[in-house]
Amino acid sequence: MKQRLGILLSGRGSNFEAIAGNALSGKLDCEIGFVFSNRASAPGLARARELGFPCGTLESKGMDRDNYDRRVVDLLREHAVDFVCLAGYMRLLSGHFVHQFRNRILNIHPSLLPAFPGLDAQYQAWTHGVKIAGCTVHFVDEDLDSGPILMQAAVPVLDEDTPEALSARILVEEHRIYSEAIAWVLTGNYRIEGRRVVKT
Ligand code: GRF
Repeated sequence: MKQRLGILLSGRGSNFEAIAGNALSGKLDCEIGFVFSNRASAPGLARARELGFPCGTLESKGMDRDNYDRRVVDLLREHAVDFVCLAGYMRLLSGHFVHQFRNRILNIHPSLLPAFPGLDAQYQAWTHGVKIAGCTVHFVDEDLDSGPILMQAAVPVLDEDTPEALSARILVEEHRIYSEAIAWVLTGNYRIEGRRVVKT
């Protein structure tokens, strides 16, 4: 049986679309079992509905993080999700969530971690004046944009770049390496040694 991905998103959903395209074309040997958003109006969620994937959303107002995440974990379990992919999901996960899917949650971040964690990473890189920027796919732990690194891709920062131009260049690489990292994880041919993820 194919392994099942749960995708969590809060906005545009371009990373979700890239993964979905690869799953639908068979490039990725998995099924998208569930797409969830904390924002009912997320364009990515609308797209997931159009594509016919099982979808869910849950309003977070008035609910503490722990209770909210317990409900999300229940939904992921109901949909028999094996791996969780955060794709622009703008919430920190609770310890309970991370524990339930230990080393089975992936995230994509638009910087070469550990540089520039947090919001507006591309803008942070651009204002800092770095000459090389990029993106990182990593396992998720309890901390922000932390966790063992699976894959990274670098892009140059050009003198004439705006933050938008740089973000667009990074996004192309995000769409490529997120699926590559998922494909690797699906094979199970890796070992986590401390912070290092190595091929087996
Ligand atoms: C991406 O830049 C991703 O790296 C970051 O949030 C953004 C989401 O974009 N975590 P999209 O919703 O996948 O288009």
